[in-house]
Amino acid sequence: FTAVRYPYLKRGNYSFLSDRHLGFFQSILSPHQVLTDEFNDLSGYNVDWMHSVRGSSRLVLRPKTTEEVGAILQYCNAQNIAVCPQGGNTGLVGGSVPVFDEVIMSLGLMDAVISVDELSGIAIVQAGCVLEKLETILHLNNLTLPLDLGAKGSCQIGGNVATNAGGIRLLRYGNLHGSVLGLTAVLANGQIMDCLSTNKKDNTGYDLKQLFIGSEGTLGVVTQVALHCPSKPTSVQVGFFGINSFDNVLETLRLSKQNLGEILSSCELIDASSWNCVTSLLKLKSPVNYFPFYILLETSGSNADHDAEKLNSLLEMLLKNGTIVDGTIAVDSTQATSLWALRERIAEALASEGYVYKYDVSVPIRQFYQLVDVMRARLEKLPIRCCGYGHLGDGNLHLNITSQEYSSELLNKIEPFVYDWVSRQRGSVSAEHGLGLKKRDYIEYTKSPTSVHWMRRMKKLFDPNNILNPYKIFPGTLNE
Ligand code: FAD
Ligand code: MLT
Ligand code: ZN
Repeated sequence: FTAVRYPYLKRGNYSFLSDRHLGFFQSILSPHQVLTDEFNDLSGYNVDWMHSVRGSSRLVLRPKTTEEVGAILQYCNAQNIAVCPQGGNTGLVGGSVPVFDEVIMSLGLMDAVISVDELSGIAIVQAGCVLEKLETILHLNNLTLPLDLGAKGSCQIGGNVATNAGGIRLLRYGNLHGSVLGLTAVLANGQIMDCLSTNKKDNTGYDLKQLFIGSEGTLGVVTQVALHCPSKPTSVQVGFFGINSFDNVLETLRLSKQNLGEILSSCELIDASSWNCVTSLLKLKSPVNYFPFYILLETSGSNADHDAEKLNSLLEMLLKNGTIVDGTIAVDSTQATSLWALRERIAEALASEGYVYKYDVSVPIRQFYQLVDVMRARLEKLPIRCCGYGHLGDGNLHLNITSQEYSSELLNKIEPFVYDWVSRQRGSVSAEHGLGLKKRDYIEYTKSPTSVHWMRRMKKLFDPNNILNPYKIFPGTLNE
């Protein structure tokens, strides 16, 4: 086994899958829960969404209950078999696919919505539930999700929790460390850790569930989640503005926060190059013509007249004082969806262009766009495109660079320079996508050596044999 593009990685000293192992899994699971056909069944599970990393697993296990997850992990731990937990496989850092021949544990069959309570706003869900399906059910109960992302049609709530996914509503509802009230996780030795609290407030000792939020499948497998969901807004307004300079982008953000206050739910940036990518490659129509920058604003509230008046007045003011040059407000939900597509489908458009070097960083808001300019100057004509977009309201820039195909020359020009630059701003080298395989060597550009030391100690405590998602998050091997 060799890890493509990561030739320096060595397979850990794990057991190779044998007929005896397979026989055990077949004895505790039904035939459709055990996939072994290399060409038909396994290929999609071995390759990531970006088609940038590929594992060579020979087995996918699809448990249906927490107890089945427990039995599988107990056996894997005893037999020294490495496991890669997988949700919707939309992760962008190579964390969701095996590096070598780890057994894939796919949560897709655990997709039940167990309960939804409109009064408390609490939904209890199995980890494999696809986000969009959960949202549809919540809407029937006058509730909505505290998170939303472009991958909602495929990503699962367990994967979202495991990556502490951010997305386009974080500005309003905060991240999953706040919205997840409880969860069930199965530890590497098969033990079931029941932290499925539904209490909003609970200060009895350490809040262990937080360890699993953002742990990227390295500390346990999340099987159930209790989520605190806000009321479904009855009025959602979307505005799309064309802006001439980055200074005016910042001024638009400031005035939007000041004037929209509690109803502001998203503030997303799109630069000209990202806009050009979605409009030219995906043929999406834009109601606003070419500008260096665009801002997509969303408000969510409970009074359509009040919210529309606020957004319209803001648009008028921004046009009048010259902060923005052009702007539109969606007249209905169909138009709002098309405006959102200009932002949400950027990742897809970039992927269609060839190989994508993806950077997801937190930077101080005033320096938000500087990195894109710096990279453009540094890379000159090497890439096809160097663009920036992202969650402006949260200081989370998505810097993306594309080339026809993977080029180590280009990669070496980008990395580690990009991480060094972010570190000097005291930003984060992964704001929302996690570290997975691709960013693991750069953890210390954001976290102190002491923090990383204690993370490794925690990993060792929870998973002494290092069977859960090995090769991810930490540089080197855990024994180093
Ligand atoms: P996977 O990709 O399958 O897995 C991701 C990680 O979680 C892996 O390390 C895996 O081992 C682990 N994992 C999965 N399920 C479990 C489980 N039940 N228990 C333990 N570990 C588990 N991310 C954002 O944060 N914000 C965005 O706005 C955003 N937009 C995106 C848009 C597009 C078009 C795409 C393709 C991706 C986007 N992402 C975004 C990245 C990705 O969708 C998120 O990270 C998502 O949360 C991953 O969920 P998933 O179910 O696909 O998990
Ligand atoms: C987004 O915000 O669109 C996602 O995080 C995906 C990406 O970074 O391209
Ligand atoms: Zn994002």
